[in-house]
Amino acid sequence: MGGRLAGRVALISGAASGMGASHARAFVAEGAAVMLADIADAAGEQLAAELGARAGFVHLDVTSGADWDAAVAATVARFGKLDVLVNNAGILDAGPLGTYTEKQWQNMLAINLTGPFLGLTAARDALVAARPAAVINISSAAGIQGVPGAHGYTASKFGLRGLTKSAALELAPLGVRVNSVHPGGVLTPMLGADADATLDRGENPLARLGLPAEITPMVVFLASEESSYCNGAEFVVDGGMTAGRG
Ligand SMILES: NC(=O)c1ccc[n+]([C@@H]2O[C@H](COP(=O)([O-])OP(=O)(O)OC[C@H]3O[C@@H](n4cnc5c(N)ncnc54)[C@H](O)[C@@H]3O)[C@@H](O)[C@H]2O)c1
Repeated sequence: MGGRLAGRVALISGAASGMGASHARAFVAEGAAVMLADIADAAGEQLAAELGARAGFVHLDVTSGADWDAAVAATVARFGKLDVLVNNAGILDAGPLGTYTEKQWQNMLAINLTGPFLGLTAARDALVAARPAAVINISSAAGIQGVPGAHGYTASKFGLRGLTKSAALELAPLGVRVNSVHPGGVLTPMLGADADATLDRGENPLARLGLPAEITPMVVFLASEESSYCNGAEFVVDGGMTAGRG
């Protein structure tokens, strides 16, 4: 790793675990300063301490606009600016229609869709001030195609793909690019400790889940000015899962 993100300052939600933690590690290794943000305080603080002086941690519940304002302020206070926002925090659940409750639905949308909206809202002025800036919204293959039973999750990830486009169109003249990343199944705590990494080829042409380290390079690319002409677009990293039927 080198200095592909040298001088950049990033705020990553959901950075205490899984892919967010992988992105935070890589960002620091590539020269960025990173504010890790999560509801999981102990794990986030531990990882930030491990990553050293160019990493900090702030408590953030992405459903709270006040938490977002405080996280952006803490990032600017600690590192001087904010030029990369990674809306990564998310949850997964599922259940058939008839049993999937309105409460589950509202909670899913609050975290996976309203959360990134509140993040964009809170970070907008800081990102514009630091231009050129980049926002990376972590959607999913479930933002490209439906997942049976995962109604709230699929709707939230399609919604985030749409929010990416409206924000990209609005913020491009202000020097802020906004893109979405669509991982396929990735081996993280979200899928459970006993998740089987092997898939059949009908589920995924590569016949396996991905690893966080296989998604992170796309996020690094989109956070850097290597992606200066990428805007409002979908970046699928899914082993070919959404390419079509095998
Ligand atoms: N793992 C997969 O197969 C997969 C596939 C496609 C997309 N994704 C998406 O990638 C992102 C990261 O998921 P992961 O697999 O690394 O999961 P993970 O469960 O390992 O990490 C998610 C993180 O989000 C945090 N979080 C949850 N609710 C929060 C809230 N209200 N406020 C702030 N932080 C909160 C958790 O504490 C956790 O640290 C999510 O948006 C997820 O939907 C995951």
